[in-house]
Amino acid sequence: MLVSAKEMLNKARDGHYAVGQFNINNLEWTKSILQTAEELKAPVILGVSEGAGKYMCGFDTVVGMVNGMLKGLNITVPVALHLDHGTFEGAKACINAGFSSIMFDGSHYPIEENLKLTTALVNTCDILGISLEAEVGAIGGEEDGVVGMGECADPKECKMIADLGVTMLAAGIGNIHGKYPENWPGLRFDVLENIKATVGDMPLVLHGGTGIPEDMIKKAISLGVAKINVNTECQLSFSAATRKYIEEGKDLVGKGFDPRKVLAPGCEAIKATVREKMEIFGCIGKA
Ligand code: 13P
Repeated sequence: MLVSAKEMLNKARDGHYAVGQFNINNLEWTKSILQTAEELKAPVILGVSEGAGKYMCGFDTVVGMVNGMLKGLNITVPVALHLDHGTFEGAKACINAGFSSIMFDGSHYPIEENLKLTTALVNTCDILGISLEAEVGAIGGEEDGVVGMGECADPKECKMIADLGVTMLAAGIGNIHGKYPENWPGLRFDVLENIKATVGDMPLVLHGGTGIPEDMIKKAISLGVAKINVNTECQLSFSAATRKYIEEGKDLVGKGFDPRKVLAPGCEAIKATVREKMEIFGCIGKA
C-alpha cells in the first residue's frame, strides 16, 4: 500500500539521513527503483512530473501501475507516490487519482498567491493523510526551459509557508535541475542554515540531486535536508547503458532485439544509480 511521505521524512530528519525521491518515466524505471529500494530495505519516494504523468497515459495509469507493482513485486518497504512540481490543477488531479504525496510548486507566484494556493491544499491533504511539499524560491536549471544559476529562498517566506502546516519544504539554496554548469559555485549552506533556523523542525527538500558532490549532500543532510530528488542522473545512466548495448550490436545477435533484452542494461544502470544515491543519502536499512 502506498504511504504518505510524512513518517519516513520525520524519521529521516530525526535520524540524520535523507530519503531519495527518484522520478519515474515508465514501467522499467518504476520497477528498477522499487526493486532496489526493496533489496536495500530503504524507504523510497517515486516522483512523477506532470509531463511524465501525461507520457504514462495519465495519473490513473501511474497509480494503477505502481499499486500493481507493490503487490506483484511483494514490496514491503514504505513507498510514497509523489507529484513533482505540481500545478494547483495537477495537485487536485493526483489527489483524486490516489497519489499518497503531492508537491504544489507555487514558487513562481508572488508569495501571497503561493500562500493562498498552498493553504487550500493543506487542509485537503491533511484530511486525506496525503503529505504535501511546498516550494519557495524557484529552483533553477531547466525547470522552465531556462537555465538559471539557482535562486535562493527568503527564510521569512519559507517560515510563512512552513507555518501553514505543509509536511516538507523545498527551498532554493543555489541548487538547479539537470547537470550543473562548470562554473556552478555550489550549494549555499549559509542560506540553508538560515532557513533551518527559521523554520525549525520541518524536513527540508533538496531538488536537483543530480551531480551534487557527495560532501555537499552530506553537509546538506546534516543541516536539515531529509529528502533529495534525483531525476536526470537515472536518465543519463539509462541512456548510456542503452547506447552501449546498441553500439555493440547486441540487438543484432539472436533475440537481442527483444525489448526485454534491449531495456535490461538500462534497468541495471538505473538500479546502480539508485543504489549509489541511497548509499550517500544514508537511507539503506531504514525501512
Ligand atoms: P535532477 O534532474 O537534477 O536530478 O533534479 C530532480 C528534481 O529535483 C526533481 O524535482
